[in-house]
Amino acid sequence: MPAAIDIKNLYKQYPVPLKREAVNAVDNLTIKIEEGEIFGFLGANGAGKTTTIKILLGLIYPTQGEASVLGKPAGDIETKHKIAYLPESPYFYEHMTAAEVVTFYAQLFGLKREDAKKRAEELVDFVGLGSKSDRNKRISEFSKGMRQRVGIAQSLINNPTLLFYDEPTSGLDAIARRDIRDLMLQLKEQGKTMFLSSHQLEDVEKVCHRVSVIHKGKLRTIGLVDELLAGERVDITVSGATPSFNERLKTLAPEANVLGGAGTFNVKDDAGLVAQIIDTARAENTRIISIIPKRRTLEDLFVNIVGGRLTDEGSIEGAPDVNRVSANKYKELN
Ligand SMILES: Nc1ncnc2c1ncn2[C@@H]1O[C@H](COP(=O)(O)OP(=O)(O)OP(=O)(O)O)[C@@H](O)[C@H]1O
Ligand SMILES: [Mg+2]
Repeated sequence: MPAAIDIKNLYKQYPVPLKREAVNAVDNLTIKIEEGEIFGFLGANGAGKTTTIKILLGLIYPTQGEASVLGKPAGDIETKHKIAYLPESPYFYEHMTAAEVVTFYAQLFGLKREDAKKRAEELVDFVGLGSKSDRNKRISEFSKGMRQRVGIAQSLINNPTLLFYDEPTSGLDAIARRDIRDLMLQLKEQGKTMFLSSHQLEDVEKVCHRVSVIHKGKLRTIGLVDELLAGERVDITVSGATPSFNERLKTLAPEANVLGGAGTFNVKDDAGLVAQIIDTARAENTRIISIIPKRRTLEDLFVNIVGGRLTDEGSIEGAPDVNRVSANKYKELN
């Protein structure tokens, strides 16, 4: 089976108007995504996320490199009915209701009016806009979160296997974000493949199987969420620690310290060391309450890679975000 998405040495440069310079929006990107994967594509403002998605959809051409989607070159007409795109700021006709918008798009997909209406009803319900009051509202009366739900409903009309979602939770409040996240989790359960661009590290951590971080067009890291976030230390909590346990603990892990008879200490995540501590506790009549590997957050990872904190809007505090290359390099690639 071909990969759902296969990107090989992809480059995209945009010229800077009136200057002999170019922006390296995508810079030698190579990524493979399998079917059924929920893939998080992280990066600050201007990192190159939307540019990559547009290339994969065939909306723009790369400067160099290859990209295939569902086994065909990006933009191939045959794959269009199997993929869907939710843009950063979806636009809908303001005077329509959610069901009317979705019916309209379903008809564009070739469904007959009655079938389109039926499909729209199902999808409007699925995204949580099925209540009587929401049904009667026009898009102009919708909040940002409700609009995103319409976008998700519209993206599902053709029952696509591969979804491109560009910042589906940006600018939403905590409740709307959680609702959209839950919808994405349902799509994950249905076995969809999703290419999810986001600045919302918490959402990505909860939804994605694998994540990547791009910075100034370059891939900086890629891996399974669990592997990337696996910590290097474990927290061990004990009670009834005897003085002799404390003595022996000091020789095993000099930095560990239990003040009084109970508490939590932190040691290196080394299976041998943890086993020795467990044996020591047993021998010294000390009770182990819990052993918890300390997970890093995606935020920690991001800070390490990019060297700055990512804000909810996607900017990196204190970091410049221009990806400019000289005229010579630009000519070389064109
Ligand atoms: N049409 C364009 N013409 C010229 N430069 C562009 C164009 N579109 C994007 N760029 C530049 O390419 C770089 C990557 O932009 P892109 O929109 O892909 O970033 P992004 O990761 O989606 O950012 P954001 O999080 O803000 O949506 C930026 O430096 C941007 O200014
Ligand atoms: Mg973008």
